[in-house]
Amino acid sequence: MPHKLQLVEPNDPVLRMVADRIPESDIAAVQALIENMLFSVTEYEGVGLAAPQIGASKQIIVVASKPNSRYPYAPDFPAEAMINPEIVRLSDEQELGWEGCLSVPGSRGQVPRSKHITLTYQDREGEHHQKDFEGFLARIIQHEVDHLHGKTFVDRMENPKDLISEETFQSLLEEAVDEY
Ligand code: NI
Repeated sequence: MPHKLQLVEPNDPVLRMVADRIPESDIAAVQALIENMLFSVTEYEGVGLAAPQIGASKQIIVVASKPNSRYPYAPDFPAEAMINPEIVRLSDEQELGWEGCLSVPGSRGQVPRSKHITLTYQDREGEHHQKDFEGFLARIIQHEVDHLHGKTFVDRMENPKDLISEETFQSLLEEAVDEY
């Protein structure tokens, strides 16, 4: 049975490391880790999770976007694990959007991200893919791939002083909903 993985502390050095690529021969050995990551991302009400966040310095991310209490506006995307993900194209066109992170607990910030990306990765069977993503999904993937290179969303903010608390963010969300 899959279980909920423990998140490393926000100051853990693993979050600042470049994660190791997974050779073809190791894909079978990371299946349990992937299963636990897919289970954990939902348990934590995240929309994505990168292996370094649970202490494994490996090039694995999971994307599991669906509306939840932390991201009520998230689009539905079937949970998927991506091994050795590499962003091979970033659109020049960027947009600002709110992000949070399980490894930056209690904070949100506005981060500029490319609107469109092209990603190469292997699925958990080891099959190679090249896909285009846009909008919120492109944002999640850029955020998670950053974790594999030792970066958090705060490093991408124009001014990290503009971080706001989760409580302030939730009240902004409620105001936005009230306008409709
Ligand atoms: Ni994160």
